[in-house]
Amino acid sequence: MNQLEKIDRENIWHPFSPLAGNKPIGVRKAKGLYIHTLDGRKIMDSISSWWVNIHGHSHPKINKAVSRQAAKMEQVIFAGFTHKPAVDLSKTLKKLLPSNISKIFFSDNGSTSVEVAIKLAIQYWYNLGKPRKKIIALEGAYHGDTFGSMSVAERNLFSAPFNDLLFEVEFLPFPKGDGAAAIASMKELASEEIAAFIFEPLVQGAAGMQMYAPEVLDELISIAQSKKIICIADEVMTGFGRTGKMFACDYLKNDPDIFCLSKGITGGYLPMGVTAVSQPIVEAFDVADRLKAFFHGHSYTANPLACAAANASMKLLLKKSCQEDIARIEASHKAYVESFVANEKVDEIRYRGTILAIELKADDAGYTSDIKERIYDYFMERNMLLRPLGNVIYIIPPYIVTNQELNKMYKAIDAFLKELLND
Ligand SMILES: Cc1ncc(COP(=O)(O)O)c(C=O)c1O
Repeated sequence: MNQLEKIDRENIWHPFSPLAGNKPIGVRKAKGLYIHTLDGRKIMDSISSWWVNIHGHSHPKINKAVSRQAAKMEQVIFAGFTHKPAVDLSKTLKKLLPSNISKIFFSDNGSTSVEVAIKLAIQYWYNLGKPRKKIIALEGAYHGDTFGSMSVAERNLFSAPFNDLLFEVEFLPFPKGDGAAAIASMKELASEEIAAFIFEPLVQGAAGMQMYAPEVLDELISIAQSKKIICIADEVMTGFGRTGKMFACDYLKNDPDIFCLSKGITGGYLPMGVTAVSQPIVEAFDVADRLKAFFHGHSYTANPLACAAANASMKLLLKKSCQEDIARIEASHKAYVESFVANEKVDEIRYRGTILAIELKADDAGYTSDIKERIYDYFMERNMLLRPLGNVIYIIPPYIVTNQELNKMYKAIDAFLKELLND
């Protein structure tokens, strides 16, 4: 253990690991696809460091944009002031989002983008004088770690200490296959009591990259919107090319009323949350009565450095070459899935856009599956960060990954599965 790791263990509380098992690895630098550790290892970051750095680590264009912005203005209060980096970003996002989206609200991360969305939806009905408070969500959902975002997510081991403090939510069955059960449940629940329906479009990330069809989601949105229920697309993970299109909702015919964005928005440089809101909702707040204002604001709202990183990242993302990279990764995953030899240890292999997932059979399937550590250690021993979601191995690479590097990941997965077969 080096000095940095030693002091870390004395002082720092890392997320998601029991304190006793906390063994963080000291990192010297990160560049492109690779994390360079203090002990001289070069680890392939196959999951874009928790799904954020879509262009790889330390990209020269984003580096330059952030350092230029830092020399001009690092931060300014966003109540009563504005600046070019935020305005530029709002213009780009509005061009890419459906035409019903009218305003961009900035916050700090994925969880806060969801908090803002839920609060806006509930206050919308309050401002109209027709209070609706109930929310519909999907079984298996994950929307963040704050109380509101935990409330609209699956109750599980992580939420257990807080379950009786979370507000009540109606859950639809996960819309697998033709989604008949979810659709029937939505038909039953959709009423004038429901304020909003929140969902991770097409791919539930934390649930284990669980995928479902756009046609089913379209149907759910259509039923919800027929009762004027506000549809909130949590694109925190799926946004910015992850599913093969700019947003997962680009696969839909129906436009959601609110989008939550974060993670890839700044290319993984700085934390930022965006809640993009449609015109009818904005109008309910655009009134003379000051008590109907939206009283929500974080200190770092629209931080200029984060906006500068986001603008540079968006510029890279919109380049033809980056769009081609996304299509190339998707084609590569497709070829791997199609040539995958059925394996008695594998329950399902699936992909959507740049996301590939291999779900292993497990009696204790789920995030805390026993096999999780074995998977993590196996790939780390081979200098590959493939941090599984329980019994689900997945790849969600930065778009700069080469075909050769992808093949290396597939081969390592094949070798791991072979080892499992020999158990
Ligand atoms: C769909 C979704 N929503 C919200 C969040 C929370 O984002 P953050 O970790 O930035 O708070 C996540 C994080 O993984 C997510 O996958």
